Amino acid sequence: APSAIIAPSILSADFGALGKACSDTIGHGADWLHVDIMDGHFVPNITFGAPVVTKIRSHVDRPKKALGKGTFDCHMMIKFQKAGCDLYCFHYEAAMDSTAAESPETETDKKTSPKELIRYIHEQGMRAGVAIKPKTDVSVLYDLFDGGDKEEVPDMALVMTVEPGFGGQKFMPDMMPKVQALRKRYPDLNIEVDGGLSEKTIDTAADAGANVIVAGSAVFGAQDPSDVIRKLREAVEG
Ligand code: DX5
Ligand code: ZN
Repeated sequence: APSAIIAPSILSADFGALGKACSDTIGHGADWLHVDIMDGHFVPNITFGAPVVTKIRSHVDRPKKALGKGTFDCHMMIKFQKAGCDLYCFHYEAAMDSTAAESPETETDKKTSPKELIRYIHEQGMRAGVAIKPKTDVSVLYDLFDGGDKEEVPDMALVMTVEPGFGGQKFMPDMMPKVQALRKRYPDLNIEVDGGLSEKTIDTAADAGANVIVAGSAVFGAQDPSDVIRKLREAVEG
């Protein structure tokens, strides 16, 4: 499996001091920052929009190589919108929702098939990720990752381990067969897990084959965030 990538979710950070929280977290040894973007439609919550992402982006150095340290891993729980991300991870369920196509409000609304959307994200100079909610079958991803046109193949899969919408929920171990199936089929793929990851649940996720670890409350609620980040990394690297 590829090496461990620890991506603290700034959903659990102090929003009153978000820029500093971002730079501090990278200083604590995080690889990426996971930015949960919610629009109140796809999930019942609203977080940040593109202007906020642009402002906090300036507090963290841009990655020197694609998906390197400092990557803004944007988890888009929205119909679609353009933002200043390095990795644009959209929900498969949102891409399959035809209402966006019927009344397109943004450029990305018009790209409704996942493959078209991935191509568009790549054209914008970003890497593309595809997320699936707990009730979505993992096999929907095979058609995307099995290849074909390189520009239409995503760069990461995100297996949600909670229902998206809120931080601090309980990890769902029954999502692990999805991770195992993906790891078996794609040995080199970056496989991200998001929701309820902590020192208590990391071994289950790492054993299943996840290597990109999102952790919100576990990192931002810790006395010593750098210690938590180190332990998550060690669990993945074994
Ligand atoms: C939930 C978000 C998560 C959230 C995780 O919709 O996608 O990224 O911040 O928070 P924890 O790690 O506290 O479950
Ligand atoms: Zn997330």
